Amino acid sequence: MKLNTDFVTWFRSVAPYVNAFRSKTFVIAFSGKMVADKKFVELVHDFNLLASLGVRLALVHGARPQIEARLEELKLQTKFVNGILVTDPATLQYVKETVGRVHIEIEALLSMGLPNSPMANAAIRLTSGNFVTACPIGVIDGVDLMHAGKVRKINAAAIRTRLEIGEVVLISPLGYSPTGEIFNLTLENVATEVAIALDAEKLIFLTDYINTKEIPTNDPSSLLRELTIAQCKPILQELSNNDTKEAVEIKRYLPCAIKACEANVARTHLVNRHIDGAILQELFTHNGIGCMISQVPLQTLRKAKIEDIGGILQLIEPLEVEGILVRRNRELLEIEIDRFIILEHDGTIVGCAALYPFANERACELACLAVHPNYRNAGHGSTLLKHVETKIISQGTQNLFVLTTSATHWFIEHGFKEVTLSELPQEKLGLYNYQRRSKVLLKSL
Ligand SMILES: CC(C)(COP(=O)(O)OP(=O)(O)OC[C@H]1O[C@@H](n2cnc3c(N)ncnc32)[C@H](O)[C@@H]1OP(=O)(O)O)[C@@H](O)C(=O)NCCC(=O)NCCS
Repeated sequence: MKLNTDFVTWFRSVAPYVNAFRSKTFVIAFSGKMVADKKFVELVHDFNLLASLGVRLALVHGARPQIEARLEELKLQTKFVNGILVTDPATLQYVKETVGRVHIEIEALLSMGLPNSPMANAAIRLTSGNFVTACPIGVIDGVDLMHAGKVRKINAAAIRTRLEIGEVVLISPLGYSPTGEIFNLTLENVATEVAIALDAEKLIFLTDYINTKEIPTNDPSSLLRELTIAQCKPILQELSNNDTKEAVEIKRYLPCAIKACEANVARTHLVNRHIDGAILQELFTHNGIGCMISQVPLQTLRKAKIEDIGGILQLIEPLEVEGILVRRNRELLEIEIDRFIILEHDGTIVGCAALYPFANERACELACLAVHPNYRNAGHGSTLLKHVETKIISQGTQNLFVLTTSATHWFIEHGFKEVTLSELPQEKLGLYNYQRRSKVLLKSL
C-alpha cells in the first residue's frame, strides 16, 4: 500500500514537468570524455526517454580529450592560446579524423536497440548536417590560430525542420566556411550558439567537476542551485585567478550561460555528469541537482492576477480538505483576487497570503497564508508575512490579526499573541465560525 502511495505521489510530482517540456527544445552539450566513459550508455537511455516524452533534442558533442590524446600519440607539437588549440593544417587533419571517429561512435551508441533497458524498442532517429557556419578566430597575442574557429551562423531553420519531425539532431564541434574551409570549434561555443539560434527552452552542459550547494557559503568553486545572470558576474570575477579544475570549468561554462540567458534562452543548467541520472534529476525534481541560471530571479513575490486562480486553488485545496484553511471556491477567489499576494517559483505558485482590511478599526486580517509542502521550512512563510506587514504598516494599519486552527505556534514565534474573541473587529466577530473554533492571534505593528 505504502509503495503504491509513493508511486502515485512520485508520478503526480513528475507529471507537470512532462507536460511543460513537451515540444520544447533542449540543447544538451557533453564533452568527448563522456563518450569515452562507460556511463555514456546510461546517458543514451536518458536522451531516449526525453525524446519519447516529446522533448526536441539537439545534442552537441565535444572531442577535446580524444584530439589531445591523438596528437600526443603522434608526438605532434601542440600550442594553446587561452586554452584554444592552435590548429595548423597538419593538426587539422588529425582533428577531422578524431572528431569523425567520435561522431560515428556516438551515432552507433545512440542507435543501440537498448534491449532489456527501460527504453526497449524506442529507437532514436538521428540526424546530422552542415548546420554550423564558422569563421577563423584570427590572431590572438600575435599568434594566428589558423583553423581554430568560432561560430559565425547556425542554420536554425534546417535544425528545426528535423526536430519538428521527431528527429534528434547531433552536432559536432566542426564548422565550415562559405569558402569550403573547415574549422575546429569549442563544444561550448557551438552549444551556446545553437541554443540561441533555436530560441531553446534549455541549454544543458554536462560537466565533470562542478558541484552545487543549497545555501551560500564562502567557497566560490561550488555554485548555488539557482543563479541569476547578475549573481554569475561576481563569481567569475572572484575566480579569475583560481586555477582549480572546478574553477576552470566554471569559467568555461558560466560565460556561455550568461550569453545564452541574455539572448533569451530561458534556462541554462550546469549538471555534474557523474551523478546517476543527472539530467533526469535536474529536470524532473523540484530542487534539481545542478546549477540553473536564468535571466531574472526564479522567485518573485507579487500581487495575484485573475490568471493565477488555478494555481492558488491547487495550492490551497488540499489544505481546505484537511480543514486547515477555510474553503474558498473559484467564484469567491475571482471576487477577492486583489486581496492576494503570491510567491511564484519558476512559473509555479508556491505560496500565497490574503489581506482583509477593517479600516474603521485600523486593523487587518491575514488569511489563507500557505506554502506548498515541497517548499516549506525555507523561510517562504516568513517572507510572505514580512511582505504583508510592510505593506500594511505603509497604509497606517496598527493591528494584524489571524485566525488559525493549526499554526498557532508559528505565528507566536513571529511576534503574534493569542487574544480573546472580543479583540476582533466587530465586523469580523459577527462572522466568527464557532464550529471551527479557530484561535485568534494578534500582532501590533
Ligand atoms: C505555516 C506555514 C505558512 C509556514 O510556512 P514555511 O515556509 O514553512 O515557514 P518558514 O520557513 O518561514 O518557517 C519554518 C519554521 O516554522 C515551523 N513551522 C511550520 N509550520 C508550523 C506550525 N504549523 N506550527 C509551528 N511551527 C511550524 C517549522 O518547523 C520551521 O521551524 P524551524 O525553523 O525551527 O525549523 C506553512 O507551514 C503552511 O502553509 N501551513 C499550512 C497552512 C496554514 O496553517 N496556514 C496558517 C493559517 S492562515
